[in-house]
Parts: sequence; C-alpha cells; structure tokens
Amino acid sequence: MFFELNEEHLAVQQAARDFAQMELKSGVIERDSKMQYPTEQVRKMAELGFFGMMLPEEYGGGGMDTLSYVLAMEEISKVDSSCSVIMSVQNSLVSWGIEKFGTEEQKAKYLPKLASGEWIGAFCLSEPEAGSDATSQRTTAVDMGDYYLLNGTKNWITNGGTSKLHIVMAQTHPEKGHRGINALLVETDWDGVVIGAKEDKLGIRASDTHSIMYTDVKVPKANRIGEDGFGFKFAMKTLEGGRIGIASQALGIAGGAYELALEYSKERKSFGKPISQHQAIAFKLADMATDIEAAKLLVYRSAWMKDQGMDYSTASSMAKLFASEVAMKHTVEAVQIHGGYGYVKEYHVERLMRDAKITQIYEGTSEVQRIVISRAILEGQLYQPMFSNGMMEKA
Ligand code: CAA
Repeated sequence: MFFELNEEHLAVQQAARDFAQMELKSGVIERDSKMQYPTEQVRKMAELGFFGMMLPEEYGGGGMDTLSYVLAMEEISKVDSSCSVIMSVQNSLVSWGIEKFGTEEQKAKYLPKLASGEWIGAFCLSEPEAGSDATSQRTTAVDMGDYYLLNGTKNWITNGGTSKLHIVMAQTHPEKGHRGINALLVETDWDGVVIGAKEDKLGIRASDTHSIMYTDVKVPKANRIGEDGFGFKFAMKTLEGGRIGIASQALGIAGGAYELALEYSKERKSFGKPISQHQAIAFKLADMATDIEAAKLLVYRSAWMKDQGMDYSTASSMAKLFASEVAMKHTVEAVQIHGGYGYVKEYHVERLMRDAKITQIYEGTSEVQRIVISRAILEGQLYQPMFSNGMMEKA
C-alpha cells in the first residue's frame, strides 16, 4: 500500500491551493453576503483548466485522474465552496456523464465547450416531489418520432442561471417506471426553457441555484444519452462519481475550518496562555485532525478505485457520508473554538459551517448514502472490507 501523492498530484494540489488563496479568498465573504455569482473567478478557473480536468485531451480536457480532481476540489473548497460546486457539477456530473455514455457526435459537440468553460452545464434530476425518491420523475419527454417534447419543472438546480447545457431526466414510458426515464441534452437557448428565480440559500450562497421550467421543448432524438429508458441508470452511475466530488468538497470545508481554528487557537490567549494550550481546545483539535485524516483516506480511496476501473458505488457513498458528517461536526467545533469571533462573518468559519450543511443533502442525502451502503452490505454485493482476518469464516 502506498500513501504518497506523486509529483503530478502535488503540482495540481499546489496550483489549486495558490489559486484559492490568491484569487478566491479576498472576495469570498462579500460574494456570499450578496449572493453574487463568481463570474470573474469562474473565468479564471476555466483558464486554469479546472473545468475539464478528467476529460481526454482530444476534447480539450486535462486528461487527469480522479485523484487530481479530488485534490483540486479539496483546496478550492477550503476557501470557496460556491466555486467548487460549480466545478464539481461541471466535471463529475455533466462532462463525465457525456464522456462515459454519450455518442461521438454528442462528445464532439459539447465536451470541448465544457472543458474550456465556454459553456457551464447543469444536471437536472431533482423535482419538487422527486428528491431522494428520484425514480418519481414527473417531467415528461413524449416521443414524437424524431424528437422528444419535454415538459416539467426541475428544482434546486446548481448552475441553473448560468448554464448553457442541461442534462434533463424525464419520463417517456410511465408504465415502465424508472426503466422509462430518459436523459436528454437540452441547450438552454432553445424555445420553452425558462429559468426560475434564484434560490436564497443558507450556504454556498454565491452559487447559482434555480428552478427550471420546460414547456414544449423540442429535443432531437440525437440528444438522448444512451438507449431508450437508460436515463435513471445514467443518473445513478453519474452520481456515483458526483458523490466523490461532493465528498472532496466536504473534506475541503472541514480542512479549511480546521486550519483556521488551529491558527486562531495559537494566537488567541485566555487565562494567560494561548487557548490551544488548554486541554479543552487541544482535544478538539486532535479530534478534528483525526476525523479529517480518516475522511481523506475514504475520499482518496474512492477516487483511486474509480481510476482503477473498480466498482466504486459503495466507496463513493461511504466517502460522501463520512466526509460530510465530519465537515458539519467540525465546522461547528471551529466556530466554538473561535467563540464570539466565530459567530461573525469576517472570520470565515460561520460561512464554512453554513456551507458544510449542503454536503449532507445534495447528490444524495446522508440517509440516501446509508441506503446505498446498507443495501450493498445486506445483498452481499461488492463491498469487501479492506482487511479480512478470516474471523468470519466458518471453522
Ligand atoms: N448504478 C446503476 N444502476 C443503479 C444504481 C447505480 N448506482 N443504483 C440503482 N440502479 C438501478 C437499479 O439496478 C434499478 O434498476 P433495475 O430495476 O433495472 O434493476 C433501478 O436503478 C432502481 O434502483 P432502486 O430500486 O435501488 O431505486 P430506489 O427507488 O430504491 O432508489 C436511491 C435508490 C439510491 C434512493 C436513488 O433514488 C437515489 O440515489 N436517490 C438520490 C438522488 C440524488 O442523489 N439526487 C441528487 C440530485 S443531483 C444534485 O444534487 C446535483 C447538484 O446540484 C450538486
């Protein structure tokens, strides 16, 4: 077993760290407060190649592995999770989904635009009554011969106001249940696509979350991803990788809060010494560091499994479940360590605490991750403990 990052990984990590510190940090509080989309920062992220990291070079991507993407997501999330969620949806839900399951024509048409950041994409699965219960799609895609007629509403769509391309899950054969759902590539300047109001959110406030209405949108059959009825499986497969992205976001949020709390606790004095010298605070730091290291192992391992071509469904759910719980728990602790300063905006930790909450909700709530993990265990599928001492074998 080898736990060292290679030179390429270290270079990506450093580049993302430098970018986050130099380009994201200074305006992040203001953007959060004003719900101001990070237009300029997104442009710079595009220039640096953060939007096509895992795409092959032939489509203008960086041809990097998943671990490189995770490292970049982690560093950017330490500072600005509004930017990292834009990057996550673009890389792991939209671009990866098209690259993995799209036709050659779809890839040639859309991937270079996504890789360069010229186009931002959105993944449109959630509906007013289909969040965790994602099979209950009400949006319809009626088969009209050479096109689908798309009607319905999607909710809480990340990149909703800025995206040029949507991947929309919609029901074509209601009698077939989830096997009747299709995934369609919809360009947002087509007739009938209406962007709803921007959501006023608890966290990741600078990211662009909208409801979207589709009314009699004509989607060419050539824009369906995969076979007729493949849409639900497409969404599930794509979310397996998406969950690695959100897990790395959670890891970054936890790491950012920890770094701030550590620094503050060494400077702030009470009862005649730095508060880090009080056991109550030192033990909090110990718990934070230990949980973050454990989360890191799960997140990096899920990325590694994906890169090895292994089944990473359970691994990505475990990584997201654990890392998001760690992010929530320890951002609360970071606020506590900061005391009164932690409760005001200029010290960043209250924002990290607000941002952490969404990592337990989007791309599958913690409860959904537990469904995925427990089913895999109980169905005796794929998941093998990393180490087995043979104690479970019958004598
Ligand atoms: N890969 C391939 N196929 C899969 C799969 C996977 N990982 N998981 C399920 N399927 C298939 C099943 O095999 C089954 O197909 P068959 O009947 O043909 O065998 C079909 O999908 C239905 O599966 P289930 O019976 O397991 O479905 P379920 O209704 O019990 O739901 C669930 C399972 C895990 C709860 C699923 O609905 C789910 O993941 N829900 C959460 C949805 C989600 O993550 N939404 C996030 C929105 S996107 C977002 O948040 C982006 C953003 O803005 C940042």
